[in-house]
Amino acid sequence: MKMNSWIFFCFSLLILTSCTATDVSHDGRAITINGQRKIVLSGSIHYPRSTSEMWPDLIKKAKEGGLDAVETYVFWNAHEALRRQYDFTGNLDLIRFIKTVQDQGLYAVLRIGPFKNWGGKDPYRTAEDVAFSVARFFQLGGTFQNYYMATIYSTNDQQTCFFGNANTTTDASVTYQGVKYNVPAWSVSILPDCKNEVFNTAKVNTQTSKMVKVSNKAENEPIALKWTWMPESVDETLVHGKGEASASHLLDQKVANDVSDYMWYMTSLQLGKGDPIWSDNMRIRVNGTGHAMHAYINGEHLGSQWATYGVFNYRFEKRIKLKPGRNQITLLSATIGLQNYGPNFDEIRTGLPGPIEVIGEKGDECIIKDLSNHTWTYKLGLDGFNMKLFDNAHDKVWSTGELPINKMMTWYKTTFKAPLGEEPVAVDLQGLGKGMAWVNGNSLGRYWPSYMAEEDGCSAEPCDYRGSYDNSKCVTNCGQPTQRWYHVPRSFLNRDVNELVLFEEIGGNPSLVNFQTVRPGTVCGNAYEEKDMELSCYGRPISGIKFASFGNVQGVCGAFQKGTCEAKNDVLSVVQNACVGKESCVVRASESSLGSTSCDSNTTKRLVVEAIC
Ligand SMILES: *[C@@H]1O[C@H](CO)[C@@H](O)[C@H](O)[C@H]1NC(C)=O
Ligand SMILES: *[C@@H]1O[C@H](CO)[C@@H](O)[C@H](O)[C@H]1NC(C)=O
Ligand SMILES: *[C@@H]1O[C@H](CO)[C@@H](O)[C@H](O)[C@H]1NC(C)=O
Ligand SMILES: *[C@@H]1O[C@H](CO)[C@@H](O)[C@H](O)[C@H]1NC(C)=O
Repeated sequence: MKMNSWIFFCFSLLILTSCTATDVSHDGRAITINGQRKIVLSGSIHYPRSTSEMWPDLIKKAKEGGLDAVETYVFWNAHEALRRQYDFTGNLDLIRFIKTVQDQGLYAVLRIGPFKNWGGKDPYRTAEDVAFSVARFFQLGGTFQNYYMATIYSTNDQQTCFFGNANTTTDASVTYQGVKYNVPAWSVSILPDCKNEVFNTAKVNTQTSKMVKVSNKAENEPIALKWTWMPESVDETLVHGKGEASASHLLDQKVANDVSDYMWYMTSLQLGKGDPIWSDNMRIRVNGTGHAMHAYINGEHLGSQWATYGVFNYRFEKRIKLKPGRNQITLLSATIGLQNYGPNFDEIRTGLPGPIEVIGEKGDECIIKDLSNHTWTYKLGLDGFNMKLFDNAHDKVWSTGELPINKMMTWYKTTFKAPLGEEPVAVDLQGLGKGMAWVNGNSLGRYWPSYMAEEDGCSAEPCDYRGSYDNSKCVTNCGQPTQRWYHVPRSFLNRDVNELVLFEEIGGNPSLVNFQTVRPGTVCGNAYEEKDMELSCYGRPISGIKFASFGNVQGVCGAFQKGTCEAKNDVLSVVQNACVGKESCVVRASESSLGSTSCDSNTTKRLVVEAIC
């Protein structure tokens, strides 16, 4: 099984669609398709996350990776953003997606499930652990006992044996019908004829690809982009408190119906110097939930607050200066998408549930004025979005004056030439705060590169896949932005001039933003004894071999080390001859092709290669 960076392996048993008039059912053991038991290997491709032009290639890669089904959620939040207004066009054309899957001769699996949160570390699950869990699932038809055992699994007239070892540290030896088999810790062996092991999950063949990014080499394209800008107009809300509706209580942001991420909460507070809360030390306190809030008093930005990872409740508290007379309090609540399903979803409050209080402190005394039942005025969205500044941006009036840096609520525009070639294009949004990006009016999505994942939990040690998997295991990306590079599908790009528009909500510096192309830099191949090691640079020639050894190799892709024993022949030359100059190659991991090794009979040997594309 080859792991491909585009495809997140996910094993699912919910077959809803397939080719014409197929009878899909199940019995106690398996899914049945036209009455026959099937083992279905499925991988996820989420259609709205790529353009329809990209689907055939993504699905083809999934098929080449050995899958026979493609799984996806149905993105109802995108199909029906507004009640009874459906969108199945462009990258939301679900029918076209399913037909593209069918054209490749694969099944489609439809399901619903949760997504990754902002600000999180990236857990990754090793190929060995996925293979173990899946084989274990098939081994026991969904139930699992413990330690190691041999099962008999029969399909039609042939018996298949599974030997499983759930011990996390110690390899096991299984004797079956007089023959001894070694089963490594946390693995399952599969013997289709109960004699010859064809597969062990700890010895799954993998290719790891490390992608590199190359700067935009379009003709005459200057390295630094030239920016123009425009402020978001906020006087109406910040100074005048003007909105579209009012109520004498705090509204749930769900009323925004996901039309916009932004909802303004505005109220005014009349104060005299004789007011019980009037003091030299006055504070405002806001109880809010998901995901960010910006507070303004009398038109001035007072401060901002956002939820921390996994905790969507926050309390904002800050000293304020009020004046006698009317004071304008404006709070902008921003979500990064609203929850749209889940238990008690309607009861979980979103936005600013309150209380919202002003506190006056005099000596030991604290007087609290609860503003929650004041008259609040509301406005949905931001003017720049309503005016579609990102669409045909050249028609709008942008300032060429000195570029504001780290300024909240600012729109930026630049133009760029499409990078040459066919490789995928990415835009590096480093230096930006939080906001949204568009290319030629097409949304690239929200960005928040200033939000860092937690520092702790990553390890420099290679990941040990043994033991039950959870999302705190094998994590990467600690202390890094959740996402920094954004894919710009080539179908969004024109041949000559393209426009990138950014809306910066919290303040950032666009001068480091740049366009790049993405290609595999190095690829690592791995195969256990008597298996084929396969390498591919995805259509480019392999230019060199950095490392090759057949034995008990240590380390991970990018940092392999020879083990204590290896083949006597010059494995590096063998691999160079077989691979350099070719787009892909295959080398058998065996003593007959690579020479006998100095390893003892108990050592698990593998052929490990690191190639440069
Ligand atoms: C794994 O095997 C070792 C040696 O037999 C034993 O001491 C240990 O308790 C086992 N661990 C588990 C989790 O079963
Ligand atoms: C803040 O709001 C949340 C969500 O509505 C609520 O559960 C919590 O009790 C509130 N906290 C305070 C101090 O009122
Ligand atoms: C605000 O109004 C609600 C509903 O009428 C009431 O339950 C709540 O106690 C009031 N809160 C304050 C602080 O007066
Ligand atoms: C291989 O392992 C077996 C069982 O653990 C042990 O008895 C044997 O001595 C080992 N052989 C070598 C060459 O280390």
